[in-house]
Amino acid sequence: MTARIGPGRVRQGIVYREGTLGRRPAVPTDAAELERRARRRMSARAWAYVAGGAGEGATMRRNREAFDRHAIVPRMLHGVVERDLSAEVLGTALRAPLLLAPVGAGVLVRRDSDVLIAQGAAAAGVPYIFSNQGCSPMERTAAAMGDTPFWFQLYWSTDEPLVDSLVGRAEACGARAIVVTVDTTLLGWRPRDLNLGSLPFARGQGIAQYTSDPRFMELVRARAAAPPTGPAPRVTLGAVRSLLSIAREHPGGLLANLRSREPRAAVETFLDIYSNPGLDWHRLATLRARTSLPILVKGILHPDDARRALESGVDGIIVSNHGGRQVDRSVASLDALVSIRAALGPSPTLLLDSGIRTGADVFVALALGADACLLGRPHIYGLALAGADGVRQVVENVVAELDLTMALTGSASVAALDSTVLAR
Ligand code: FNR
Ligand code: LAC
Repeated sequence: MTARIGPGRVRQGIVYREGTLGRRPAVPTDAAELERRARRRMSARAWAYVAGGAGEGATMRRNREAFDRHAIVPRMLHGVVERDLSAEVLGTALRAPLLLAPVGAGVLVRRDSDVLIAQGAAAAGVPYIFSNQGCSPMERTAAAMGDTPFWFQLYWSTDEPLVDSLVGRAEACGARAIVVTVDTTLLGWRPRDLNLGSLPFARGQGIAQYTSDPRFMELVRARAAAPPTGPAPRVTLGAVRSLLSIAREHPGGLLANLRSREPRAAVETFLDIYSNPGLDWHRLATLRARTSLPILVKGILHPDDARRALESGVDGIIVSNHGGRQVDRSVASLDALVSIRAALGPSPTLLLDSGIRTGADVFVALALGADACLLGRPHIYGLALAGADGVRQVVENVVAELDLTMALTGSASVAALDSTVLAR
């Protein structure tokens, strides 16, 4: 019997074969060089938004340092020639324990960002979690996924009918789960953006899920009809008319990529109703009756919050500090994973993001109790460098290294990974 060649050797084979023809990979295979090269392709505003974090960046550093405190112990002569990288998370089958994290305002990096990311995810066969701050209507992004599953990430608006509308659309276009992000009821203190005075949403970047939503457009019209109050910029009827005419030009009322000179009404409405700082456990619990999809809560760092989430009818937890973008000097996501897994035991579904850069990182996270990981910034750097194919390559590189790490530690399956493969 000949063993199936795993994704690690497949990827090495492609890269080295190209190398014999004098071609080097357009997308660097390590995270540091990937980031450096992507930066050169990005505007100052895009770089500030994507690479920036809260405060002095201590949380982002800590996310990486947490990985440095764990060591993998390779094992020899185990005879393991085939690895099973597959996993299943709440009914979604994964070819590898990896999903693409929701990232908003990707249009800063490339036009049609979400569609390109969807194409890259589909080509690599990994699910993509569509951001509520996405740059294409979810229906359009869904069409680019083909048969590859996707989830929808929800920001809980202050307008409850909008919550229902977004969830209903996600169900209708085929999302397999709803991810409620709970750590961003307000944006954190982000000096890189602040120093540029740059908030993408205020320029209409990253509000396409809203401008394509019938309930949201109702709010925009109501706002325009009401007399202006307070010091907020005035919304003129003309502005709304031109917004609506743009919406009409796009089939299905699709209105992506509003530019700064274009009508303010949608932007102002968005800024009014974006995420609800009053969101609490009781309100979260209402979601169970409002969708039949599995629900995950993203942004949990304390075992008590994880327990409470599960009691609120949630099916899974994404342990995350939002890539260090929210609270500076926050606990590292990986450290939080360890305490939450210890408190909750082996059964609950726990995913991890914040600081995942390589296949070896995924290996460590799985060994410490994650069921799967979300890849955040690196896939955006792939997008910056080579569009959909850049996203695909970044994912395939991470999966390749995970596969080789499993091979060289004698780990036959993702499901069987545990902390015995690690030393501290
Ligand atoms: C994010 N993240 C995020 N999360 C979310 O739930 N909805 C969103 O719209 C966004 N938007 C967003 C934009 C950008 C530019 C970044 C970098 C991140 C957080 C994201 O899903 C994930 O938690 C982090 O990216 C993980 O951190 P690392 O691994 O990318 O550092
Ligand atoms: C961010 C929000 C959109 O991190 O999640 O910028």
